[in-house]
Amino acid sequence: MSQTHCTIKGIIQQILARKKEVIWGNIVAITATLLVVLTPLFIPILVDELLLGKEHNFIAWISKNILTTDTKGYVFLVLGIIIFLRILSTFLSILQTKIFVSISKNITYHMRTSLLNHLKRVSLKEYEMMHVGAVTSKLVTDIETIDGFISSTISKFIVSILLLFFSAIILLSIHWPLAIFILITNPIVVLFTVKLSRNIGTLKKEENKAVEVFQSTLTETLELFYQIRAANKENYFFKQSQMKAEALKEYAINYDYKSEAAMKFSYLIFLAGYEVFRAVSILAVAYSDLSVGLMLAIFSYLWVMVGPTQDIINFQYVLATAKAACTRINSIYLMKQEPLKDEPINPFKEKESIDIEVKNLYFSYKKDKSILENINMHIKQGSKVAIVGASGSGKTTLANILVGFYPIDSGEIYYGGISNQFLKFSTIRENIHLILQQPKLFNDTMRFNLTLGNTYSDKEIRNAIHIAQLDDVIKSLDNGLDTLVGKDGIKLSGGQRQRVAIARMILSDPEVVIFDESTSALDIHTEINLFEALQEFLSSKTVITIAHRLSTIQSAEYIYVLEDGKMVDSGTPKVLLSKDESYFSSMV
Ligand SMILES: Nc1ncnc2c1ncn2[C@@H]1O[C@H](COP(=O)(O)OP(=O)(O)OP(=O)(O)O)[C@@H](O)[C@H]1O
Ligand SMILES: [Mg+2]
Repeated sequence: MSQTHCTIKGIIQQILARKKEVIWGNIVAITATLLVVLTPLFIPILVDELLLGKEHNFIAWISKNILTTDTKGYVFLVLGIIIFLRILSTFLSILQTKIFVSISKNITYHMRTSLLNHLKRVSLKEYEMMHVGAVTSKLVTDIETIDGFISSTISKFIVSILLLFFSAIILLSIHWPLAIFILITNPIVVLFTVKLSRNIGTLKKEENKAVEVFQSTLTETLELFYQIRAANKENYFFKQSQMKAEALKEYAINYDYKSEAAMKFSYLIFLAGYEVFRAVSILAVAYSDLSVGLMLAIFSYLWVMVGPTQDIINFQYVLATAKAACTRINSIYLMKQEPLKDEPINPFKEKESIDIEVKNLYFSYKKDKSILENINMHIKQGSKVAIVGASGSGKTTLANILVGFYPIDSGEIYYGGISNQFLKFSTIRENIHLILQQPKLFNDTMRFNLTLGNTYSDKEIRNAIHIAQLDDVIKSLDNGLDTLVGKDGIKLSGGQRQRVAIARMILSDPEVVIFDESTSALDIHTEINLFEALQEFLSSKTVITIAHRLSTIQSAEYIYVLEDGKMVDSGTPKVLLSKDESYFSSMV
């Protein structure tokens, strides 16, 4: 089962879905609990039967059935039994922890997986506004908060209730009026603490938010470290992170000490109650038939009840913090995803290439600012077209739309005659390869950056490297294809990175290729060699080239000119347009 949103109810359902482990864990927990609950019963035996010489029930039974010995012997025997029970209980509680930890870690693992699956399909518009650090902090810190909640629910809550329940039964059987007094007073303490816990949830939310702010500031600073150093702004940016760390410190102090204070305060009330119970028990010995041994047993039960009562008190806080964490986690689920569409026909299937027809396309990143207006294009299968236009005219935007990065506002794009409405973005991107102007590389080997984890033969890789004019580059690297390229490929030049992106495209062998200023960093000589080498590879493919340099689009058959998001020259054969060289002369 998959949980798409974080709710307390959902988490409880996830716990219950692991019935077998939960039941098994609880059987172990209950056994461990029973062993703990039983031990104080030996006190009246030791005190009343052995010290005060009252009726010999248990001792008589032992001497009849097991062995007869003197007082010293019985004391050691009972001591031995108690220590054995405690050891057994400890081992069982370790086993119980193991079972419960595995349940909680499995649930949080599934929560993380579900969040990652959501993020995987998040729309680019959402991604552009995303703070990476903020998202990671939710996947780490908030999930940990949930983990704390799950462990205290399944491992502590049920056992605590049981401990209280068994203790109550034994107390009732020892001295019922005293027991009733204790059992009525106890819930009052718990109720009191519920009120205190409300505030704690808010404090936890503030603390986790501060973690998020710190983490996103630090992540951004580290991501842009190169630029920051170039601008000599380390002090400013690291100071920002330091300030966020300071705010985090304040929130953490606030949460830690206030939640601790609330818990201590609740505990104080409980301890005060405990002292009252103790006094009342002494009175019960003085004025009723309660024996000293049983009084001491009651003291022990009061002590047995401290832990569970505290756990139930804490549960209020853990619940409050878990609710706060869920709210924060749900903000990830609120991020919009790329729409999922039905795909009756895949136009790319078993084709060498396809044609692309754009009809009355309108697009805007934000509602009030239109970027592309009424774009019409018909790019025939296997043809080579160019899109030119001034900076900011919308060329990259159009390329991004053709590969399905953003949904369009209106109009239609037909791929091989099939409307974009019936195609998944992933299918489009699988078959149309956009090479970016500033390709980002992974901080991994050259080989990985070329293959992106796909398997290709050495021959295929060599061929791609050769066409992309990378032979000399690879040769000059210390470890050839196994050289690490550094963060964002920082160890390579801009032009080398562009050629790596082109080699990556050659390996993926798409049906349509879009070059968006993909060779802008190459010298004209290398660029000419590259396009010559690419000619055969591209011959049957539909190719769209976006460029400022006339040399880049020399092989284009048709040229589209964009101006302020409008197509001013649509599909003019290059021969016609190149007669009016004025546009290009301004570009070259
Ligand atoms: N992700 C985005 N969110 C909002 N606005 C954007 C985004 N990307 C681009 N724009 C805006 O869209 C307009 C067109 O940008 P685009 O990158 O398509 O231009 P371009 O023609 O490729 O320019 P250049 O030649 O400089 O690469 C610009 O005004 C830009 O500010
Ligand atoms: Mg651009």
